[in-house]
Amino acid sequence: MAKLSPRLAAVVDALPLRPGMRVLEIGGAPGAAARVVARRIGHGHILVIDRSATGIAQIRRNAADEIAAGRLSVRQVAVEDFELLTSEEPFDLAFAIRVGALDGRHPRAGVLATRRIAAALTPAGRLFVDGGDPLREIDLAR
Ligand SMILES: C[S@@+](CC[C@H](N)C(=O)[O-])C[C@H]1O[C@@H](n2cnc3c(N)ncnc32)[C@H](O)[C@@H]1O
Repeated sequence: MAKLSPRLAAVVDALPLRPGMRVLEIGGAPGAAARVVARRIGHGHILVIDRSATGIAQIRRNAADEIAAGRLSVRQVAVEDFELLTSEEPFDLAFAIRVGALDGRHPRAGVLATRRIAAALTPAGRLFVDGGDPLREIDLAR
């Protein structure tokens, strides 16, 4: 897969990532940012969700090594329907870049999506989206 674009590189650099973190990326096809995040969190884990089957197939292809190593996983689901599996630990950080349900383009979907994400994060978990410099943090009102 090609090198990370300057836009996505700036986003990943701005995320407060730490080794061992559990990260959720929403709308992460084709997996470019997620692969870099997977490297930065070391023994942590990133789950990438996307509602598009084509997008999920792209991530599976592009991040095959990270998936095989158990450092990245994928799930086809819309963020408005997302919930933790019973076996799944909550996430420390979530981010979404250019996803209409979270960047203000679809406010009603945004309310539902934000609620779903908040329920999947640890009590101190944080959500970042684009539209800041380069990111802005969403207040999860907890
Ligand atoms: C414009 S692309 C952005 C991809 C990547 N985040 C980036 O910035 O290059 C939006 C992606 O989000 C996915 N998406 C859009 N709405 C979604 C939703 N409600 N739930 C999950 N994925 C969504 C799309 O299928 C697509 O893969």
